Amino acid sequence: MTTKAVLEVRDLNVRYNTSAGPIHAVSEVSFDVFGDEVFGIAGESGCGKSTLIRALLRLLSPNGICESAVISFKGHDLRTMPDREFRKDILWREISLVPQSAMNSLNPVYRVGAQIVEAIRAHRRCTRATARERVAELFDVVGLQADLMDSYPHEFSGGMRQRAMIAMALALDPALIIMDEPTTGLDVLVQERILRRIRKIRDAIASSIILITHDIAVIAEMCDRIAVMYGGRFMEQARSLDLFESPHHPYTLGLKNAFPSIHAVGAELISIPGFPPGLIGPQTSCPFEPRCPFRIERCATETPQPVTITEQHEIRCFRSAEAESLRELAKSKATWHCSN
Ligand SMILES: Nc1ncnc2c1ncn2[C@@H]1O[C@H](COP(=O)(O)OP(=O)(O)OP(=O)(O)O)[C@@H](O)[C@H]1O
Ligand code: SF4
Ligand SMILES: [Mg+2]
Repeated sequence: MTTKAVLEVRDLNVRYNTSAGPIHAVSEVSFDVFGDEVFGIAGESGCGKSTLIRALLRLLSPNGICESAVISFKGHDLRTMPDREFRKDILWREISLVPQSAMNSLNPVYRVGAQIVEAIRAHRRCTRATARERVAELFDVVGLQADLMDSYPHEFSGGMRQRAMIAMALALDPALIIMDEPTTGLDVLVQERILRRIRKIRDAIASSIILITHDIAVIAEMCDRIAVMYGGRFMEQARSLDLFESPHHPYTLGLKNAFPSIHAVGAELISIPGFPPGLIGPQTSCPFEPRCPFRIERCATETPQPVTITEQHEIRCFRSAEAESLRELAKSKATWHCSN
């Protein structure tokens, strides 16, 4: 990992205007992605992961409004860059996306290889034959046989289509590849195969990766640094090792309990009772307050601001100084299921 940030985001907010009122899908999110690193974003369904990515890539639906203090990519100010320039020079060429449900993103009436050839030729001047050679190379990288290039999407399994979309995202050697839930919807064995492949790709390419998932165990294995998102906010951000060895935020403690760990096989899984918050209207409390066994009075009336724990480790919680004792308490099922 190099220390220069490829992407810098400060104070990013996204709201969707709806007839029921504004939905604050992303609030005050700040982070960096460094060269050659994998940055993970973990969080439950509806916490704003895809919205954050769509905002960065200008792919929000028309009712979505993004405001941000800084979005800087390799020194370019992405907030002020004209749309035309962004689509020509940045999207796909510099930042590519494996979208959520990517396996359904291929056009069913065109051969898979031809779709990637077209994507390459839309951004790079080259002959069809050269582009086909590149697709064959990419198929090799993602573990598909080159002769499958001339198949149609319906001839591919879900896992194969997913790999084809990853090939598409790699096609132009972008500096940053964003993968939104790359294994969701696939059966466990295929998930493992795709993750193994992504791990190989991670080691083989120079690009940075943002990996989004609701599965914190996946992210633990794959990422250099992790952000844990809840109710539109980054609640904890740290190097993977620090997050797993020394988690501080109550929500992270709950998430860790709720997922099977490769390091603690057989440990009892403890769910976090309750539901994620509705995001309509402005937030005037800690979003985790209704579910947090450690809440105190001010959690219901104030939104915690980021507190730095150590270098590259920050959390939003009023009880950050008590992390050690909360960590112990969080290991007990009674803490989560009998309190409050
Ligand atoms: N176009 C839209 N209009 C209104 N609300 C929206 C729109 N798109 C998303 N939302 C809402 O914004 C919030 C964040 O949604 P988002 O899809 O970003 O979450 P997510 O973390 O990616 O969830 P998942 O894990 O299910 O993919 C949710 O409450 C969702 O219902
Ligand atoms: S700020 Fe309060 S409610 Fe929020 S996570 Fe910390 S203790 Fe829990
Ligand atoms: Mg999503």
